[in-house]
Amino acid sequence: MENPIFAKLVTCAECVKKKISFKPKVGLILGSGLGNYADKIKIVETLDYSDIDGFPISTVKGHKGRFVFGYVGETPIVAMQGRVHYYEGYSMSDVVLPTRLMAIMGIKVLVLTNAAGGVNVSYKAGDFMMITDHIATSVPNPLIGPNVEDLGTRFPDMSEVYSVRLQSIIRKCALNCDIPIQEGIYVQFTGPSYETPAEVRMARALGGDAVGMSTACEAIAARHMGIEVCGISCITNMAAGISDQALDHKEVQETADRVASQFELLITDLLKELA
Ligand code: HPA
Repeated sequence: MENPIFAKLVTCAECVKKKISFKPKVGLILGSGLGNYADKIKIVETLDYSDIDGFPISTVKGHKGRFVFGYVGETPIVAMQGRVHYYEGYSMSDVVLPTRLMAIMGIKVLVLTNAAGGVNVSYKAGDFMMITDHIATSVPNPLIGPNVEDLGTRFPDMSEVYSVRLQSIIRKCALNCDIPIQEGIYVQFTGPSYETPAEVRMARALGGDAVGMSTACEAIAARHMGIEVCGISCITNMAAGISDQALDHKEVQETADRVASQFELLITDLLKELA
């Protein structure tokens, strides 16, 4: 019997193939704060998620849902403007479907971005953090279920999820752009409630530097398919309990907006390097 997860992916892929002729080399998932990054892309084609049969549609306010195909410098990219989160109620396989779809479109590199809470007390709101590794044990693994051999192996190695090669390129780009960048470990929680101070202390005790509600699952699905992955978090706030201030989505958005132009600069430099 055909695996329903794979069948849905194939349906989406066939739909994209009919509508889009562009061949991207790099995939970019835009987190909060990079929502307007499409303005920096020399757009060739776009495809609304709602026009892809079976595609999971995001419900988060302010998340436009579409793939943008085009060039940054000489690099052919596909950007996801709006991603699907596990906390919206989708299965993990739906959450990573867009990532898998980009892999089928032909991307070789995936650039993940997100907004995250700072767990490392030396960070401050507005910092960027290059992700060097992740802890995803608080969320279901996206590969649970019958393995789709067409995508990858049953027990994929995760000893270098975030490519060391891409990490050194990011360091160089940050230097180029004169943007300081932290390096650390991203801990994915389900959300949608923010963490408690005790959960943040747990994340720190485990070696985490930032917490968020996305990214690690997408990185796992991409690595399963052999895609080279990197990730950058925008530290929009210090995680719960570090300051005595309560967390507020508005603050997250405000910080993301405040540093958006720097984030865009860094991502543009990175994408150009990946040509
Ligand atoms: N926790 C989880 N996700 C987040 C946070 C946070 O503090 N800030 C932005 N996304």
